[in-house]
Amino acid sequence: MARIEQEKPAFTLVEVADDPSMDAMLLAPPLEPAKRRKGDIFRPGNGPMVQFQGVIKKYDGEHRGLDGVSVAINTGEFVFLVGPSGSGKSTFIRLCIRELRPTSGNVIIGGRDLGELRRSKVPYLRRAIGCVFQDFRLLPDRTAAENVAYALQVTGHSRQEVRRSVPAILSLVGLEGKEDRLPREMSGGEQQRVSIARALVNQPRLLIADEPTGNLDPETSLGIMDLLLRINRTGTTVLVATHDQHTVDRMQMRVIRLDDGRIVRDAEGGYNEDPGDTGEIA
Ligand SMILES: Nc1ncnc2c1ncn2[C@@H]1O[C@H](COP(=O)(O)OP(=O)(O)O)[C@@H](O)[C@H]1O
Ligand SMILES: [Mg+2]
Repeated sequence: MARIEQEKPAFTLVEVADDPSMDAMLLAPPLEPAKRRKGDIFRPGNGPMVQFQGVIKKYDGEHRGLDGVSVAINTGEFVFLVGPSGSGKSTFIRLCIRELRPTSGNVIIGGRDLGELRRSKVPYLRRAIGCVFQDFRLLPDRTAAENVAYALQVTGHSRQEVRRSVPAILSLVGLEGKEDRLPREMSGGEQQRVSIARALVNQPRLLIADEPTGNLDPETSLGIMDLLLRINRTGTTVLVATHDQHTVDRMQMRVIRLDDGRIVRDAEGGYNEDPGDTGEIA
């Protein structure tokens, strides 16, 4: 069987621990070539990181979540998926992690056609994708450090690895000194940073966030988006679903816009190209 060349990891946690400068670490290329990790299911040599081919998702056999979506997101891109409530953003994201299966069409992630992925491999898919949600989804009776440690423990890391990695990743997301806080003792922005740390700790090649700033004020939202952008600069592909126009306008990245389950615009820039632009494809 031909082994496909592996991508480099987004970062190595050793570097985080050894380098007190978060920015320097985030921007530094990994020192060591990636080793193939156990259970690594992506085949990054096989085209885009995310590819939808004519994807239709009907709920209840009738109601359309997605209505014929074809799009590709390449390795290393930072992409916003925008559109009004009900336009299909969450449907798109849930298809990427096989929480949903398309009614027709293909969803290909990291070179793997999810329609052909055995059920037993789905946990490996979800491990290869870091996920961040609007409501943080932290364990309420566990500290910040324990929430992150849990994600490492379930993937079989040793206690020593957990002890070394958790403080490093928490400082990476700007939570140094807050390791022992419970979720209720943290602000919304801090809780979201914990959830990003948890998503990152297994070094995913793809980070997907569904309305990560939906519960946050505008200033905190920009801080979270900035963190996601810096993670992207390490080589991690980042896909962010949001209807937060202010943040999208500030970032000026690729924007894929959904309306009624269809892509109506795919361009770099703001949420709308300019205030007069309705975002429609002519
Ligand atoms: N589980 C479901 N059952 C039926 N319809 C659903 C379900 N989830 C989403 N939908 C419908 O699919 C469409 C897209 O929803 P969604 O992907 O959640 O949009 P967004 O995340 O952009 O708000 C909406 O019309 C929504 O009502
Ligand atoms: Mg949604």
